[in-house]
Amino acid sequence: MCGITGAVGLKDIANVLFEGIRNLEYRGYDSCGVALMNRNSIIVKKNVGGVGDVYQKENILRHSTHLGIAHTRWATHGQVTRNNTHPFLSCDKNFAVIHNGIISNYQELKVRLQKEGHRFQSETDTEVIPHLLEKFYAKTGDLEASLIQTVKLLEGTFAIAFITSHQPDQIYCAKRESPLLLGIGDEVKFIGSDFNAFIDHTKNAVIIDDDEYAIVSKDGYIVKNLLTREEINKPITRMEWDSETSKKGGYPHYMLKEIYEQPQTVVNALEVEEKTVDRLVNMIHKSKSAHLVGVGTTYYVTLYGTYIFSALAGRYIPAISSDEFASLSPVDKDSFVLAASQSGETYDTISAIKYAQSRGAKTGAIVNVMGSTLSRLVDCPVLQGSGPEICVISTKAALAQMILLTRTALKLGLKNKKIARKTYDGFMKSLRSLPDIIEGILNERSGFIHRVAHNHRNVKNWLYLGRGVYYPIALESALKMKEVAYVHAEGMPCGFLKHGTLAMIDSDINSIVFIPPNSEKVLYESTLASVEEIRARNGFVLGIHFDEGNRNQGLFSEELILPPVPPVIAPLIQMVIAQLFAYFTATSLKRNVDKPRSLAKSVTVG
Ligand code: G6P
Repeated sequence: MCGITGAVGLKDIANVLFEGIRNLEYRGYDSCGVALMNRNSIIVKKNVGGVGDVYQKENILRHSTHLGIAHTRWATHGQVTRNNTHPFLSCDKNFAVIHNGIISNYQELKVRLQKEGHRFQSETDTEVIPHLLEKFYAKTGDLEASLIQTVKLLEGTFAIAFITSHQPDQIYCAKRESPLLLGIGDEVKFIGSDFNAFIDHTKNAVIIDDDEYAIVSKDGYIVKNLLTREEINKPITRMEWDSETSKKGGYPHYMLKEIYEQPQTVVNALEVEEKTVDRLVNMIHKSKSAHLVGVGTTYYVTLYGTYIFSALAGRYIPAISSDEFASLSPVDKDSFVLAASQSGETYDTISAIKYAQSRGAKTGAIVNVMGSTLSRLVDCPVLQGSGPEICVISTKAALAQMILLTRTALKLGLKNKKIARKTYDGFMKSLRSLPDIIEGILNERSGFIHRVAHNHRNVKNWLYLGRGVYYPIALESALKMKEVAYVHAEGMPCGFLKHGTLAMIDSDINSIVFIPPNSEKVLYESTLASVEEIRARNGFVLGIHFDEGNRNQGLFSEELILPPVPPVIAPLIQMVIAQLFAYFTATSLKRNVDKPRSLAKSVTVG
């Protein structure tokens, strides 16, 4: 989604902004641009394409300036063209604006402004903002008043920032719903849509809340309420991520780096304080109905949670895709809604939580980004501590969320007396063995997975099949394949296969089947039955299974054999294998792994 950055203070701000928007590339974008203050006039440079290309094409670094703003655009209103790229200028070129979010009433505002003589260059919703600022400034000569009057007219969601030649040493910004932070360095101050915008310069951030605006200059900043214009004393939040952990560190892609970071991510999720997990447990326990929400990968994470809560705590907690939540879920003051979100900024998930809150429900969230909207919105935030996840494709953050859901389910099981203390201890021991097992598998099996993926890189259709808790793993693994390799992949419960899809089995469709350990006898046998069904129709089956001696011999067309592991961690390990399979398929097909097409890291629009 769109990324915003801005900086004031140093001399080489064009370069500072270059680093800033490059650090926001991971959010996904299709065009980018900057507005730089050149004495008392504004220079705008923008184009479609990557940050590096646009900087070079537009020769941006040759401009030396002390102040500027920059933007990466993910098209929502209007095609991917130079004209639709931010920043946008007012007619008199005295205001340059960047924006993240959607102005839902822009058509009506645009028509009015056009009647008043304003000329528009783009099809975007954003462009109404510089014209409104220009109009109100002409009337009042007061920049803050113009900002407030402009914002009053805007419906929808926004984080906006502007620079103006009327005040060439300041950056103005305001927000409603879309994220916005200030970065507070000694000699330089920043604005950003997330911490990565200024991660290389400072760890001190000020989180701007809804209906607040800020004025930032080299020596300071001031935050005010948009409705009352009163000054607000905002605390400085120290962000613990550092720029080193955000860098690729020798890996060819962030996706691979983040897959390899999973042993540590699991350790971090296991180290989240017991009392934090207990708070979640108590909220679920006290509620008459509990629900899980997430979208994309995090929906599959929460669906995994449904199975785990049922198996370990005897409690049915349905997972609902965030975007469907309001249509499906009758929540009230006795309900508890738990969201999962890597970014904590996903529009659909935030909307689901707000809907639940409007009905009086209590809420919680497992999130990775400290200070994110969701983490501040819910009654019970749980920070998963996975560190920055830069690749658009979620891997390590999803696994960590699953660990936290498993811990919560185990604790709830203990409280509900569904499991005994001894069983609980055994499961926890298994979870603690996971980092070493993943490490071993990554080291020993990735060469083989690479070969298998490469050999099957031209397969056009994959069916991902699993039963029970392996079903959400199949769904998530198929999503990974679609997202990063652009290969059609469909996740399905094994039992569903014979209700129609078996008719599709031929040489144009390959299957991957997630086989549980045979200690889970019923699940194991019924999963193998599906393998037989496919094989009987000469279908290709790649079986991902655990070493059970000779039991599975000759069953699969191809197989990935894993060392035997305790059942509670088996699906998680298989998910890691599927991440690597998708990654290597994507690299074999020469895909843009860290920034796949049509995908944004955090989807902040509805
Ligand atoms: C987008 C991303 C997905 C992600 C989903 C939820 O669609 O492209 O990879 O799973 O948002 O994101 P969240 O930050 O809420 O986990």
